[in-house]
Amino acid sequence: MSLKTNGNYFANYILQFEPKSLDKVIEAGCKYFQFSWGLPSLEIISKIRNAGAKFGIQVSSKNNAEKALELKPDFLICQGLEAGGHIQATQYNKYALPQVLEVAGEIPVLVSGGISTGEDIRAAIHIGAAGVVMGTRFITTKESNLADIYTRKLLEAGENSTVYTNCYNKDWNAMHRVLRTNTFLNWEAEGCPLIGNKPGEGDVIAKSASGSDIYRYSARRPVEGDTGDLESMCMYAGEGISKIKDIPTAAELIERLWKEFENK
Ligand SMILES: Cc1cc2nc3c(=O)[nH]c(=O)nc-3n(C[C@H](O)[C@H](O)[C@H](O)COP(=O)(O)O)c2cc1C
Repeated sequence: MSLKTNGNYFANYILQFEPKSLDKVIEAGCKYFQFSWGLPSLEIISKIRNAGAKFGIQVSSKNNAEKALELKPDFLICQGLEAGGHIQATQYNKYALPQVLEVAGEIPVLVSGGISTGEDIRAAIHIGAAGVVMGTRFITTKESNLADIYTRKLLEAGENSTVYTNCYNKDWNAMHRVLRTNTFLNWEAEGCPLIGNKPGEGDVIAKSASGSDIYRYSARRPVEGDTGDLESMCMYAGEGISKIKDIPTAAELIERLWKEFENK
């Protein structure tokens, strides 16, 4: 495995799927791991610890924070319903974060969901978070590989443009937050039927750069090189999208976030 950075990075594993690459990633020298949608096994934890690495677990309530803390993680991530992408959370951070902070004690808690600006980061720190995790703000940067139509839709989005749904559940039947695009609107107009009865369910709507089929209701987001009806694909976005109105470089964004955070 070859690395393109000497800086810090972390590996993120969704534990609804087997973390097949874990040994290789540890071997490559990754020092930070994050787990969501489940708890890492004791075997995984011992591999991470033996490599001198740290790990965090994503939670969203007092109950699952308590279970995660039994595994002695280095940090927790508190995800709220405002987040973009697949959402493990069952409540907004307004409710989840105080519960998680109450049981976390000295373990740092990062807030995830709806954070778009330095002011948002300041507000999260003010109520006790140690830091934040940002998704949607960073997919709208120059380095991001989204297809142009997806970037355009993100920039056009307003306050009610996202929806929490299980519409795009062909590959993984889990809740997610996405933009209200064609596929969602047509499915909703039909009364949100279950798998097997969804309109246009078998349609191949696009192709990846390598030529593989992309089906309607697939969890696949449109990226550079995809062709076809990209507008009907799954476009993840958090509720913070309404505050995102430009495409800076990641470096410009970090600089801006710091300035806003420090209120300069
Ligand atoms: C395009 C996109 C892809 C994501 N993919 C993953 C993923 O593979 N694993 C995961 O745990 N979370 C994933 N997330 C969720 C993020 O980890 C995080 O919870 C979320 O982006 C935070 O909310 P925000 O988007 O409002 O900043 C994704 C989010 C987005 C927007």
